[in-house]
Amino acid sequence: MAAESQTIVVPTDAELLQAQADLWRHSLYYLTSMALKCAVELHIPTAIHNLGGATSLSDLVTALSLPPAKLPFLRRIMRLLVTSGIFASDSNAEVETFRLNPLSWLLVEGVEAEDHTYQKYFVLGTVSRHHIEAGLSLADWFKKDLAPPVPSPFEDLHGVSLLHENMSLLDKELDRIVNEGVAAHDNLAIGTIIRECHDLFKGLQSLTDCCGDGTTVSAIMKAFPHIKCTVLDIPKVIKTTPADAVNYGAGDMFKFVPPAQAVMLKLVLHFWNDEDCVKILEQCRKAIPSREEGGKVIIIEIVLSPSMGPIMYEAQLLMDMAMMVNTRGRQRDENDWREIFMKAGFSDYKIVKKIGARGIIEVYP
Ligand SMILES: C[S@@+](CC[C@H](N)C(=O)[O-])C[C@H]1O[C@@H](n2cnc3c(N)ncnc32)[C@H](O)[C@@H]1O
Repeated sequence: MAAESQTIVVPTDAELLQAQADLWRHSLYYLTSMALKCAVELHIPTAIHNLGGATSLSDLVTALSLPPAKLPFLRRIMRLLVTSGIFASDSNAEVETFRLNPLSWLLVEGVEAEDHTYQKYFVLGTVSRHHIEAGLSLADWFKKDLAPPVPSPFEDLHGVSLLHENMSLLDKELDRIVNEGVAAHDNLAIGTIIRECHDLFKGLQSLTDCCGDGTTVSAIMKAFPHIKCTVLDIPKVIKTTPADAVNYGAGDMFKFVPPAQAVMLKLVLHFWNDEDCVKILEQCRKAIPSREEGGKVIIIEIVLSPSMGPIMYEAQLLMDMAMMVNTRGRQRDENDWREIFMKAGFSDYKIVKKIGARGIIEVYP
């Protein structure tokens, strides 16, 4: 039966004008990313920090050694970045003042604070030319009938995979920036996880961190010195890890995961497709004892859900787009996670807590 024709409700004048403004925003949002990149490249957050955390525009121009004639242009960029939540301002003060907020604080270089993880390279990596070109190729990629395993638009366009050893053949500097950006992204909030999820590690005798450079387990061992920790990663990463109390093992998680009471996968599975996730989790299951003996896999990943509010959900969905454009992985909602756990032979799971955009999941054999 033919679908009943629907009556299109003609928008009101006010709705049309709002729709046009919304279209401007959505078409031009990339300029916010470019303004952020510009602020990072000019070292604006560090300059504001060095000026005591707040500054007038003229002091900022002097501190950045910019030509004085650029002051009105800098005002326009700063105005957008304040409206986007990247800096704060006191526009009611006698002289307009720009301040750091928590976001721009993460972009200050050289801060000696436990919870400060410098995010400059995350910005520079995600708005790099190669990433943007991959995004621009999305419609062409959709039209191609590519054989599985389907390459990401990034891989299809550039011929190399993001974070793969062959990335340096494409662009050595981009490879360095992306690796630094991923490390900074992954290491942010370890302290919060340990503080907020104390019970996750309490009573554990041993833990294998499946993939990592040792930063996460070093923080865990500081808080729980009795836990015997092992880190598994590929030989290239293990070669450069520091020699400390952590036990490092070079290997392939698809073939073997070093046994422990618990195995942790922090920000690993979002990089892989569902079939690969099942294979990795099967190896993790082999590495742990029964649930009665405290065996579990700890997963720290985004759990897509609108329940955290529209801004957090939008951030999660944008991270999913980033995975779709640049990798073969994806972000997952609770149903997606459950399906993977069951396929890998686990019996149960619990979302222990949601921290920011991420969830902490315990998975039981
Ligand atoms: C996104 S990082 C992991 C981040 C880390 N868990 C953390 O939270 O800091 C992904 C890691 O997986 C490692 N990796 C990729 N393939 C692997 C494999 N087959 N076996 C073991 N490690 C692998 C990479 O070398 C990289 O260090």
